[in-house]
Amino acid sequence: MLLAQEPTKKTEKLAPYYPTPETVVEEMLKMVGTKPGEKMFDLGSGDGRIVIMAAKKFQADATGVEFDADLYRQSSERIKALGLEKKARIIHGDIMVQDYSKADVITVYLLPISNDKVRPMLEKQLKPGTRIVAHDFEFSGWNPDKVMHIEDDGEGRSHTLYLYKR
Ligand SMILES: C[S@@+](CC[C@H](N)C(=O)[O-])C[C@H]1O[C@@H](n2cnc3c(N)ncnc32)[C@H](O)[C@@H]1O
Repeated sequence: MLLAQEPTKKTEKLAPYYPTPETVVEEMLKMVGTKPGEKMFDLGSGDGRIVIMAAKKFQADATGVEFDADLYRQSSERIKALGLEKKARIIHGDIMVQDYSKADVITVYLLPISNDKVRPMLEKQLKPGTRIVAHDFEFSGWNPDKVMHIEDDGEGRSHTLYLYKR
């Protein structure tokens, strides 16, 4: 049986898989002020690294959404192997059709055009006070509360993080 949240033929690929380096993941979660017990969602969770660090290091209640079957399986297995099932999970589904109404924190690493698609959906759903951190691509139409440049992630790549509050 197909669950409502699972990817369908209509699911649009909003970005290719390109992981955030672990050092940058930590900066994102610090910048957005992730606190123990807070509900955090990573939109397009890849190998689950943001979800896993949010649960393990920041004690958040962390959920990833990933439509790629292999990445979903791999990240779910890693969560299990680390014994984090109570604090972390991956939804095998489409970013565009999930419920983020209880989110305290959202992390995003998609493309600029995808941020434009995701933005109205988040504006409809997010409760006041939700914090969002976007990696490398800002949300046009939203004013960031803070912008952070990371000159070198340890592998010579630079990054920019954008923090927003609804
Ligand atoms: C740039 S990667 C970021 C991965 C992870 N968030 C990180 O920062 O390491 C984007 C991810 O979004 C996933 N993705 C793209 N479109 C999606 C959609 N419509 N629903 C769910 N996942 C999607 C891709 O498969 C990929 O894993």
